[in-house]
Amino acid sequence: MSDERLLNPNPHEDDQRSEKSLRPRSLPEFIGQEKVVEQLRIAITAAKSRREPLDHTLFYGPPGLGKTSLAGVIANEMGVHMKVTSGPAIDRAGDLAAILTNLEADDVLFIDEVHRLNRAVEEVLYPAMEDFALDLIVGKGPSARNVRLKLPRFTTVGATTRLALLTSPLRDRFVSVHRLEFYTDEAMHEIVTRSARILGVPCTSEGATEIGRRARGTPRIANRLLRRVRDYAQVIAEGSITLEVARAALATLEIDELGLDENDRRLLRTIIELFEGGPVGLSTLAAALAEEVDAIEDVYEPFLLQLGFLQRTPRGRVATRRAYEHLGVPYTEKPGPNSDPNAPQQGRLW
Ligand SMILES: Nc1ncnc2c1ncn2[C@@H]1O[C@H](COP(=O)(O)OP(=O)(O)O)[C@@H](O)[C@H]1O
Ligand SMILES: [Mg+2]
Repeated sequence: MSDERLLNPNPHEDDQRSEKSLRPRSLPEFIGQEKVVEQLRIAITAAKSRREPLDHTLFYGPPGLGKTSLAGVIANEMGVHMKVTSGPAIDRAGDLAAILTNLEADDVLFIDEVHRLNRAVEEVLYPAMEDFALDLIVGKGPSARNVRLKLPRFTTVGATTRLALLTSPLRDRFVSVHRLEFYTDEAMHEIVTRSARILGVPCTSEGATEIGRRARGTPRIANRLLRRVRDYAQVIAEGSITLEVARAALATLEIDELGLDENDRRLLRTIIELFEGGPVGLSTLAAALAEEVDAIEDVYEPFLLQLGFLQRTPRGRVATRRAYEHLGVPYTEKPGPNSDPNAPQQGRLW
């Protein structure tokens, strides 16, 4: 499976330019995720009226759902600057110290992939987040001493696709933690309509529904599909996106009714055909697909789980009856988990 796949929710090179123009900048522009938006609206209004920076905020959820966008929205709504960095980009404690000492009062420090900060860097971040302080060791040997530098008050906004990989001391320092969900069909329709308007592509309501419905509840994918359908419409259909044009374009991209592409179907078929429907361990499955374990967990699984096509069990991944039905493979009832005398016992620690 290629990283450049159309439905991979991680950003591609060619997303970057258009993502800039399509990114919502304010809360009213941000479609869907009503619960998160409402909580943010209240928190931002309250912080502004107290003339304080917003509390440290963490967003988690699958890629492409708007975490980076929300960090920018927070900075815009608070009327402050945003400094952007990411877990893997900060190698040494000194790198983070340099970033922190360059912050201005009330700034937003956005740390993407915050679960990938290393330990030494995290140690610097704790007092910075908690006390707005930087602890430095000055001098060497017996004359070395601790010096505490005051930092301006600021807001850390963290984003992660893997909440479970965050250390608990770091997680505890985020005052509010928001989970982003896959978007509803209605929200997806609105997002495609908005993007089409910004891109200047005529798109009927049915056309927008169709594109949105097949984009796995993920705005980044919707925008990508919209661009591909626009190309198709320009070449084949005089530029306008209608239901028929959307369907025809998506068919050429081999994206099915539910938004699955060839790679998703291959994953399900592999479990069904090679492993008799599972359970199959994640690493075994990854090897059979010649795919990274991380890619399976981050990119493919969340949506297949959401559709109820895949189950995670203690013994591995299982393809469900719905997956068989979607692929048109006859489903045979499997023996229950306790009927196999050779199966490893569950719930035993040693
Ligand atoms: N709520 C939303 N409304 C409209 N567009 C959105 C929304 N959320 C995300 N997008 C679009 O999807 C793209 C990817 O969002 P992004 O914030 O980069 O996701 P993440 O950081 O979670 O991977 C953005 O550039 C934007 O165009
Ligand atoms: Mg992001």
